[in-house]
Amino acid sequence: MNDNPSPALLTASDLHKQYGSTSALDGADFTINAGEVVAVMGPSGSGKSTLLHCLAGIVPPDSGRVTYRGRELPALSDAERSALRREEFGFVFQFGQLVPELTCEENVALPLRLAGVPRKRAEARAEEWLARLEVADIAAKRPGQVSGGQGQRVAVARALVNDPRMLFADEPTGALDSLNGERVMRLLVSAARDTGTAVVLVTHETRVAAYSDREVVVRDGRARDLAGAV
Ligand SMILES: Nc1ncnc2c1ncn2[C@@H]1O[C@H](COP(=O)(O)OP(=O)(O)OP(=O)(O)O)[C@@H](O)[C@H]1O
Ligand SMILES: [Mg+2]
Repeated sequence: MNDNPSPALLTASDLHKQYGSTSALDGADFTINAGEVVAVMGPSGSGKSTLLHCLAGIVPPDSGRVTYRGRELPALSDAERSALRREEFGFVFQFGQLVPELTCEENVALPLRLAGVPRKRAEARAEEWLARLEVADIAAKRPGQVSGGQGQRVAVARALVNDPRMLFADEPTGALDSLNGERVMRLLVSAARDTGTAVVLVTHETRVAAYSDREVVVRDGRARDLAGAV
């Protein structure tokens, strides 16, 4: 651990993104420190997903800066950005996007296999993560054979298995009933806290804010800290 008082991991400033005549981002600023859990809230269509995609380097902003660990994302080559996403970022989307042909365990092991981890070791780590998310029993099933909540737990395990510095989660429990959703959210945040992973968590659920360190509200393409100060 270093004790730099404010180790900003990722910062974005003055992001603009236009889709036709729609201004999805209109001068959005954002910052997250190492290990911090930030909930991003705001009405539908306000720009939350667009912000997340720009922060993660999935979508290039029209203008503005995104800096991750001192490096400007838009300035990286496609290969460098892909490597960053593979090695340092984890993603969970609203519908887990698991690979249907693979078992749950193989899905979780996939990021490790892509990073060159030998099969046995990758499988062992995948099993550990499935157990941590309380779904060890479905390891051998395919995503089509498990419930929505179980699938999202597998997706969370897959996003965290390679120990990312940064997790991006866009409504990761949006498809679940609120009890199940809250449980998965709690597991996600506690697993991220154990591994020191910073989390940007887009959610409609106000209760989720209780698990976060900070809340940011996006309105009309601009992001604001709810409490005012960071
Ligand atoms: N690929 C796209 N093409 C055209 N318009 C888009 C695209 N992506 C987003 N938009 C528009 O940009 C605005 C912001 O969209 P965004 O998906 O970021 O909102 P959101 O806050 O994530 O909404 P939700 O809560 O419904 O997921 C919306 O008006 C949306 O219609
Ligand atoms: Mg969205």
